[in-house]
Amino acid sequence: MRIVVTGGAGFIGSNFVRHLLRAHEDVEVVNLDKLTYAGNLENLRDVESDPRYTFVRGDICDAGVVRSALAGADAVVNFAAETHVDRSISDPQDFIRTDVLGTHTLLEAVRELGVGRYLQVSTDEVYGSIERGSFREDSVLAPSSPYSASKAGADLLVLAYHGTFATPVLITRSSNNYGPYQYPEKIVPLFVTNALDDEPLPVYGDGRNVRDWLYVEDNCAAIDLVLHKGEPGHVYNVGGGNEVENLDLTRRILDLLGKDHSLVRYVPDRPGHDRRYSVDCAKLQALGWAPRTPFADGLATTVAWYRDHRTWWEPIKSGEFRRYYEQQYRGLA
Ligand code: NAD
Ligand code: DAU
Repeated sequence: MRIVVTGGAGFIGSNFVRHLLRAHEDVEVVNLDKLTYAGNLENLRDVESDPRYTFVRGDICDAGVVRSALAGADAVVNFAAETHVDRSISDPQDFIRTDVLGTHTLLEAVRELGVGRYLQVSTDEVYGSIERGSFREDSVLAPSSPYSASKAGADLLVLAYHGTFATPVLITRSSNNYGPYQYPEKIVPLFVTNALDDEPLPVYGDGRNVRDWLYVEDNCAAIDLVLHKGEPGHVYNVGGGNEVENLDLTRRILDLLGKDHSLVRYVPDRPGHDRRYSVDCAKLQALGWAPRTPFADGLATTVAWYRDHRTWWEPIKSGEFRRYYEQQYRGLA
């Protein structure tokens, strides 16, 4: 089976490429990635010489590049996106371009070439915030940020291609992933690496917002299952079952590293900050999936990984990231 993975040089995409090569002997993987600030070929150093793996540098908005990368493919899994909510607030343009127009470009090529399966990697953020209970796959979409609105727009296009052209599409909507190779703008790697350097941890608002943490390998297993066993035209929620307040997460990270809680700094809240995410995963569980990683184990493994891989994150934190950080966290001591 020849699978094109877009955005395979990013956090979840690189973990998914590695998962595919490990889980399926007869697979061929083509990784199509533009290598934006978030894409990093270091994430795949250990598989780059595998004869079943090919890397193509290219933009999912470029129809010519997409058509040639997809020629002969049996399936496409689209991870490529602009993904950071804070960046979508300060500069939304690239989010609309890549997340919406890029998805459309892929769908057109899938239709034209008759690719057998297209899986869109989406997010629980498309449902918006929920005070109590959990969203199901048929819940109303009510995205709050330019990022989640772009992802919701893409989801609607994907479903419209199924309704209009019978394109064999699938969508997964997962909760917050954590694990190795996550770009250190997101809360877990940002706080772990800041704590390792005895730098402050900037907690937004009152720190009581809730996220449901999903270990990245459990998400990779879910995506693989949906790709092979999901029903075309359907959406599948993927949640870790670990709802944690940000302040609790922050304290756990500090405790794992033996660092003092005085590193916590309360900073102004994110505009439009969703209070809580929660998804009902019964539909995916009926396909035979369950998250396997207890949160305490996954977090300990993740913290240890960043502690042991300074050579991965130190160059990232001194480049483009530094300028972003100073702008985003102005005035942080
Ligand atoms: P990431 O930011 O780590 O990586 C994104 C990758 O996409 C990078 O390698 C980047 O170079 C590539 N890319 C960006 N624009 C591109 C373009 N125009 N053409 C080709 N490649 C491009 O992202 P991530 O956190 O791994 O997320 C992957 C996917 O999963 C995204 O679609 C995201 O919306 C979704 N998702 C992420 C999470 C999470 O917690 N990280 C949760 C739910 C859903
Ligand atoms: O829910 C899935 C989504 O999870 C994905 O679709 C997104 O791509 C991914 O970035 C993530 O979005 P979040 O906004 O939830 O993740 P982030 O790590 O940015 O923030 C997690 C929580 O931590 C959120 O409540 C905001 C808070 N936070 C974040 C940062 C970066 C802080 O308090 N301080 C920070 O510095």
